[in-house]
Amino acid sequence: MKKIALVGYGYWGPFLLRNILDNPEASLVVVCDKDPEKLKIINRRYPTVRTTTEYRQVLQDKTVDAVVLATPIFTHFKLARQAILSGKDVLVEKPLAMNYLEAKELTALAAKRRRILMVDHPFLFSDAVHKIKKILDSGEIGEILYLDCVRVNLGLFQKDSNVIFDLAIHDFSIIQFLLNAKPKSLVCEASTHFGHQYDLAYILMEYADGVTAHVQVSWLSPAKMRRMIIVGTKKMIVYDDIEPTEKVRVYDRGVKISRSTREIEEMKVGYRSGDVWIPKVETIEPLAVMIAEFIKALTSRKTTVSGGHWSAEIVNFLESSTKSAQSGRKIIFNHANRQKR
Ligand SMILES: NC(=O)c1ccc[n+]([C@@H]2O[C@H](COP(=O)([O-])OP(=O)(O)OC[C@H]3O[C@@H](n4cnc5c(N)ncnc54)[C@H](O)[C@@H]3O)[C@@H](O)[C@H]2O)c1
Repeated sequence: MKKIALVGYGYWGPFLLRNILDNPEASLVVVCDKDPEKLKIINRRYPTVRTTTEYRQVLQDKTVDAVVLATPIFTHFKLARQAILSGKDVLVEKPLAMNYLEAKELTALAAKRRRILMVDHPFLFSDAVHKIKKILDSGEIGEILYLDCVRVNLGLFQKDSNVIFDLAIHDFSIIQFLLNAKPKSLVCEASTHFGHQYDLAYILMEYADGVTAHVQVSWLSPAKMRRMIIVGTKKMIVYDDIEPTEKVRVYDRGVKISRSTREIEEMKVGYRSGDVWIPKVETIEPLAVMIAEFIKALTSRKTTVSGGHWSAEIVNFLESSTKSAQSGRKIIFNHANRQKR
C-alpha cells in the first residue's frame, strides 16, 4: 500500500482526492493546503485523513511515500524540487513547470535522486485517445496528412497561465502521444482581449514528412468544443470529446487523384465516401487510470506514460508557442524527430 500526500485542495484537488481514495493500492495519509478553510472540508468529510497547512511537515513525514501536487503552476518547480530532495516520489498536475529550463532541471534531479516524476496529462489516460492510437498504428487510415484541433469554451481565465498553457497543453500531449514525434517548428498567433494573458491562440506545428497540426484554443467562445480531426491518405478520424459515448468516428472517406493522358495534362479529383464506424470507448475515468499508473510506477520504479522527460518537452512547446506569439517569429527546433518516453 503506497502512502500518498495530496498538496493543494482547490478546484482540481478534490478530483484527485476521490481517485486516490478509490484506489485499493493507495492510502491517502495527509492533505496539505496553505488555506485552512479548505482543510475544514477534509476534516469534516474524511476524519481519518490528517491535514496540515505546512508543506514542510509533509516532507518531514517518513510515512509519506509520494506527493501529489495540485497547486498553482508557479509553485510546481519549487514544491516538486523540495519533494524530490526529501526523497519523495512526485506526481505533478499539468504542466510540469512554468518553463522548459525548470522542467528539465526537475527531470534531471529526479533521475539523479532515482525518484519517480510523473505529470498528469489526463488525455493520455483516456480510452478514446488509446483507441485512436491503435487505429493510427494499425495503418488503417494510411499516412497521416494533418491534424486539426479545436479546444474552446468560455473561461476559466487563469491568473498564472495563458490559454496556451491552460488548454493547448492537452492537444500537445495528445498529438505527441499519437504521433510519437516532436514538431520541427511551430508558429503561434495569439491575442489578449481581457486581463493580461493570451486568451485566444492559433498554433501551427510542422512535423517530418509534411505532416502539420493546427491547434486553436480560446477562453472566449460561447460554445464548448473539444474536437480533433485526423486526416489520413486512406481514412479520416473525428474525435469529439464532448460526445458522451460516440467520441471517435472513423470515416472511410478520401480523395482519389487521377491524371488524364491528354496532351495538356489534367488532374481529375474523385471523392470516395464510404462507411463510418464508431469504435467502442470505455467510460473509465481517466483520472482513475492515471492514479493507477502512478501507483504502478511507484512499485516498478519506472514511468510508462507522461514521465518527467516526456512532459518537459510539452512545456518546451508551450513556452515556444508563447514566445512565437510575442515575437511574431517561427520557432525551429533542433531535435531528433522520434522520441523516448
Ligand atoms: N488535469 C486537468 O485537467 C486539470 C484541470 C484543472 C487544473 N489542473 C491543474 O491543477 C493545478 C491546480 O489548479 P487549481 O485550478 O486546482 O488551482 P486552485 O488555485 O483552485 O487550487 C490550488 C490550491 O493550492 C493551494 N496552495 C497554493 N500554494 C500552496 C502551497 N505552497 N502549499 C500548500 N497548498 C498550496 C491553494 O491554497 C489552493 O487551495 C494546476 O497545476 C492546474 O493546471 C489540472
